[in-house]
Amino acid sequence: MNKVRKAVIPVAGLGTRFLPATKSIPKEMLPVVDRPVVQYAVDEAFEAGIEHIVFVTGRNKQAIEDYFDVAPELMETLRGGGKAEQHGTLERLLPGAGQTTFTRQQAPLGLGHAVWCARDVIGNEPFALILPDMVSYGARGCLAEAMDVYNVSGGNVIAVEECDLTETHKYGIVGRGAEIGTGFEVTGMVEKPAAGKAPSNFYINGRYVLQPEIFALLETQERGAGGEIQLTDAMVRLSASQKFYAKPFSGRMFDCGSKEGFIEANVAFALARRDLGDTVHDLVGNLLRDHETRSVAA
Ligand code: UTP
Repeated sequence: MNKVRKAVIPVAGLGTRFLPATKSIPKEMLPVVDRPVVQYAVDEAFEAGIEHIVFVTGRNKQAIEDYFDVAPELMETLRGGGKAEQHGTLERLLPGAGQTTFTRQQAPLGLGHAVWCARDVIGNEPFALILPDMVSYGARGCLAEAMDVYNVSGGNVIAVEECDLTETHKYGIVGRGAEIGTGFEVTGMVEKPAAGKAPSNFYINGRYVLQPEIFALLETQERGAGGEIQLTDAMVRLSASQKFYAKPFSGRMFDCGSKEGFIEANVAFALARRDLGDTVHDLVGNLLRDHETRSVAA
């Protein structure tokens, strides 16, 4: 079984749900507490044993490339100003020399197209795919857990979570087959099935291990839902010749591409922080009490 060494992180989307903020700030740079969303994706990749990260960027995304570069003046100022802790954090979070590649998606034609743009950098080896606006929250990262299954099953692995059966129309849903390791064989994939038409309640949550044969299929993939080149459509075609497995994530994802998920992630990550948890707990408690008092008065 070939080792998964590289991860693709697509960051070329327009982030229209976060306009007007995303007019000048990439949505992947919006912070959850004090780290940009994309930093969580990079940390998760390295935790899972990834050695090289391929960012698929687009216009107006320069801030992401700058963020993952050295900042000599800032580092010097922090060192000189006795801010050793911040200096150490920045040093620790920076990927090593030669561990990142930035390639361009010239137009946001969809996730499938963004992944296809990484084909030459990935070459003929399996790779991980991390959708950065899905932020992983749990004892271990979601990709590390998906890799546990890959190390037993090989093939293609999709991380999944369970949703309410009435919510299947919002997600890509996989059918559940025989167990393998801590995961199961995928019997089918359907994009956004109506309630009652879904093969299960396991939805695709934004972490994948894919075989390089996906690229040839993406090359000829026609536009699907929303007029975009959809990754799921190409995965469905690949499943005719290759096995797909699913790993139910033991933690949970926050959808930081949506306002509700982003706010929820900020509260959850802040509550989990030793330096902030108690204060934020009290702040949120007070806000809720005020809110309820006002609702009753109204
Ligand atoms: P989304 O569909 O959630 O991102 O894609 P979006 O289109 O930017 O968001 P909205 O709906 O307009 O608010 C998930 C991930 O795939 C990337 C996005 O940057 C995001 O990280 N993506 C999406 C691309 O890189 N290229 C695309 O053409 C589409």
